[in-house]
This record gives sequence, C-alpha cells and structure tokens, in this order.
Amino acid sequence: MRILSGFSKLGRTEKLEIIKKLIPLNDGDYKLLSLFHENISDLDGPVMDLSENYISNFVLPFSVAPNFLINGRTYFVPMVTEESSVVAAASYAAKFWAKNGGFHTSIEGTVKQGQIWFTWKEDIKLIIKDFELLKEKLSSSVKHFLENMEKRGGGIRDIKPADEGYIFKGCKSIYVDFETIDSMGANLINTCLETMSKELVAFLTGRFPVVEPPEIIVAVLTNYTPRCLTECTVECEINSLESISGSITPRQFAVKFEKAVSIAENDLSRAVTHNKGIFNGIDAVLIATGNDFRAVEAGGHAFAAIDGKYGSLSHIELKKNKFIFRLRVSIALGTVGGAVSVHPMAGMALKILHMPTATELMQIVSATGLACNFSALTSLITGGIQKGHMKLHLSNILTYYHATEDERAKAAQFFSNKKITFSTVSAYLDSIRE
Ligand code: MEV
Repeated sequence: MRILSGFSKLGRTEKLEIIKKLIPLNDGDYKLLSLFHENISDLDGPVMDLSENYISNFVLPFSVAPNFLINGRTYFVPMVTEESSVVAAASYAAKFWAKNGGFHTSIEGTVKQGQIWFTWKEDIKLIIKDFELLKEKLSSSVKHFLENMEKRGGGIRDIKPADEGYIFKGCKSIYVDFETIDSMGANLINTCLETMSKELVAFLTGRFPVVEPPEIIVAVLTNYTPRCLTECTVECEINSLESISGSITPRQFAVKFEKAVSIAENDLSRAVTHNKGIFNGIDAVLIATGNDFRAVEAGGHAFAAIDGKYGSLSHIELKKNKFIFRLRVSIALGTVGGAVSVHPMAGMALKILHMPTATELMQIVSATGLACNFSALTSLITGGIQKGHMKLHLSNILTYYHATEDERAKAAQFFSNKKITFSTVSAYLDSIRE
C-alpha cells in the first residue's frame, strides 16, 4: 500500500488528480465531482473549510415540514435527510396536531458538563480539603476564555471533584458544569478543560511537591447531557383520532398505540428502532441547522438508559377520554458558533425558523422528533409502514428514469396494488413508452 503524505496540504484540483490516478474514476465521475463543487462555488470558503481534504460537496435535500404548531407559534421546520419518508411523516403528524392543539414543549435546563479524568495516588480528601482554593484557581485560569460568555449570562456553574477509584486505583475526576447560552460550546468547553488540567497539575504539584504529580488522562466535554432536557407533549380527545385511525375505532387505535409504546418501553430491540424513528426527525433538523447530530444522538440514546435499562424516549398516557403522548429527551445544541454560523444553509434554516434561541430550537427539534415517532407508530399499527414508503420509493425510481408528469400519474395508478422495484418500474415505463 502506498502511504500518501502531505495530501491535506494540496489544493483541491491536485487532490483530485491524485485520486483520478489511483482510483478508476471515469470522466463522468470526475464531472460529477466537479459539478457538485462548482454548483456552489460561491459558497466556497465557508463550506470547504468545515472539513479537511475537501474535494466536492455531498448534496442532500433541504426540505421543510409545514404546519408545526409549537407553543402557539406556527413553523415551517427545515429538515435535511436522505430517507424519503421522514419529512412526509413529520408533516403528516404536524398537520394532525395543528388541528388538535399543537405541540407543547418546555425546557428543564441547559447545563453541559466537562470532565477532567486524572490519576493521582493520594487520597481525594487532600483535594477536597483545599477545594475552594483549587476551584478558584481553575476558574481564574480560564477567565479570559469565558469573558464574552459571561457577558451573555453564561459561564462556569459548578466544579466538583470525585474519587473514581472503582475504575482503577488512583482514578479521579473533576466535573465542570457550563452554561453556554445559545452556543453548543463544545470548543469553548474543551479549551477551558485543557487549560484547567494544566492548572490542576500545577496546583497539586505545588501543594504536594514530594508526591508523584497527577497524570491527566482525558479532559473533554461529555455528550451525556441529561441536564439539557426538553419535554414535548401532544394531547387530544381520543375521539379526535378518528381521522387517522383507519379501519379501527379511535379507542382501538389509542389502545393499540399504547401497546406499541409499552413494547418499546420494555424491549431493547424494539426500543432502539422506536427511538431511531424519533431521531429521524431530531437529526434532520439538527443537520439542517448545522448542529452536531452525533452528539445529540449519543446523548439521547444514553438518556434512554438513564434508569439503567434502555427504553423508549416517548411515553403515552390514556386518561379517560384523553390521549397524551410525550417525549423527554436531552438535546444539546446551538444557534450560534461553529457550522451553525458558517454554513449558509444552516443560516437559512434558522431564518426559516424565525432565528430561534438555543432553547427555542431545542423545543422545535423535540417536537419534530415526537412528530416522526407519532407518524411511524400510526403507520405501524394501522397497516404497516411499507405502503407509505413504497409510494415514495416509486417516486424516487420514477425520478431516476426521468419520468414525465403523465408517466408518473399512470405509474401511481398502475402500482397502487403491485410490487414496486427498480425492475418492475423500469419494465412498466418501457411498456408505456413503446
Ligand atoms: C424508519 O426509519 C423508522 C421506523 O422503523 C421507526 C419505528 O419502527 O418506530 C419506522
């Protein structure tokens, strides 16, 4: 294998030349790479600079789900996803709930945490004894980084030591709580933690010169964010479910829905898929707004196991005639800084959302997650998801074969009760094109 050195230092065209030499790309492939680069070349810097070794762009649909009534305000929710049914699912639920009181959301905190993990053979009591002074030193070592954040009302909220000797002998940690207001703050938090680590070593070495100095193992933000919590609820009379309950009664629908949620609350395999359906919505809004969806997913799945057993993030209550469906999930995000501020389409998404604060965006994201979950369960309990999926699948295949409007209408009718695959659609188009 030939190891490439200095690849990242080359210009885009030079990188492409190397790729072209080493990988059997034909002229068409090369044109495609150029096309997706050139089409957005006026956005050049901002997008390219997001990642090392940029050679082209990867385009995904930027869609909006209309009719999201959240806390009395209506939104078009911007969504970016490769899965055909996701925006349709979000829109379906949004429309239903707009007619039934909308989504009600709240925030139970926005505190993020950083951790400094280190080894120090001495007793934690020596650290605890002097902790007020150490806290002061740690805070002042990062004061200059936090000046702007403090002006906006953020900053450090707490610093705590812990003995983690159960992991291995001498293992200890310092937990630092941060409020980062409208920014995700990952870079700021990590910068602070790395600076604080040095201060911690200097402090303990100065205080206990004859004992072995502490060794920093890792200093980094945790994506487990149970204190960046949102709750989103929808509620209606059971009778109001009639318009979506298909061939069963609204009460049968509600009871079946409750059973589906209960299975996800209790079975790991089902819970993962159920929650994946929630993240279909959450991730799509996070991507559209330039947020770190991996961080939110990781934290969200961990939150789903907060009681020690992984389960559904959404819950249902049937109270007399009421159907109450709720999502509680941790969502740590930002509306300023990082890709959110740099990517022009993220800026566009925020504009479409009326420039929300981070807490407002957390609520919009949770409503979209609940909407997708509601639609998925509705489809699953009333005949399965494939019917809807296949309709969209048909549309994708027709696009692939450049079908005209007339061909699309004919195909929709023809395939309403037939198997949809690339080959069946291709054969059908051939037959009507002949
Ligand atoms: C597909 O992307 C998501 C679903 O599988 C979610 C679910 O099963 O609840 C439909």
